[in-house]
Amino acid sequence: MTIRLAGVIGDPISHSRSPRLHGHWLQRYGIDGQYIPLHVRPADLRASLELLPRLGLSGINVTLPHKEAVFELAHTTTERAKAVGSANTLTFVDGQIHADNTDGYGFLANLDQGAATRDRAAPALVLGAGGAARGVIAALLQDGTDRVTLTNRTAARAETLASQFPDRVQVVPWDQAEHAVADHGLLVNTTSLGMVGQPPLQMSLDHLPPETIVTDIVYTPLETPLLASARARGNVVVDGLGMLLHQAVPGFEAWFGRTPTVDSDLRAAVLA
Ligand code: ATR
Repeated sequence: MTIRLAGVIGDPISHSRSPRLHGHWLQRYGIDGQYIPLHVRPADLRASLELLPRLGLSGINVTLPHKEAVFELAHTTTERAKAVGSANTLTFVDGQIHADNTDGYGFLANLDQGAATRDRAAPALVLGAGGAARGVIAALLQDGTDRVTLTNRTAARAETLASQFPDRVQVVPWDQAEHAVADHGLLVNTTSLGMVGQPPLQMSLDHLPPETIVTDIVYTPLETPLLASARARGNVVVDGLGMLLHQAVPGFEAWFGRTPTVDSDLRAAVLA
């Protein structure tokens, strides 16, 4: 069998844009491969991980709610997966499951592409304290940021997350975010505020320095109210779609043997 197979598991799965993303690359590079969405419920996860390699899949992406469980079930895990305790990219080799987490890589690669001259050491203000925030903070610290400031509506959650990065993350109250941004070179929204169907993020940008880069992990809509306000002030903004696109690169490389490019054609294909 020469055809290469990969896919994505999740519950639900029908909303996933990954099949379109990988499908575009397969077609672009003329690779004899298929990338398929697979609806896997939590109760079926263990059995699926045994079955999928036997069916000939080279690997899978993993989305909600399985990211933590697959990390526990894998035979080996990368350092960057260990840093966040979850995995989104599995590779099957000789009956072994190798788990990686490429979300942080995707976040940084998106920033690098959208703000090419950014100062990697610039202090970052992170809004939100969920799983996404954890990945973003781990990536930023690993990448050499000077310091991270964290703020969240529920302060206790921010304190718990900060305690996982001893002495590296300072917590400020949620209602202080507007002032705290004044000495930060990067502002990251990891909350769901601004997403279609959710309220907008109510944050005045009056104290936002002109050189501060603003990014959002929300990508529906592409231009969230936060990004629109920052752009109107003349700040460089980076939307969240690129994070989804870039996080897919290491998996495609491992399963299909080619390093794919993230460009405007891919963005258009995924949004179509
Ligand atoms: P994820 O894993 O995607 O980060 P999550 O764990 O559900 O998802 O986290 C969602 C984030 O959005 C949290 O920081 C949440 O704040 P709380 O910890 O206070 O719940 C934030 N969030 C969601 N709705 C919010 C709202 N209406 N106002 C402020 N923050 C909100």
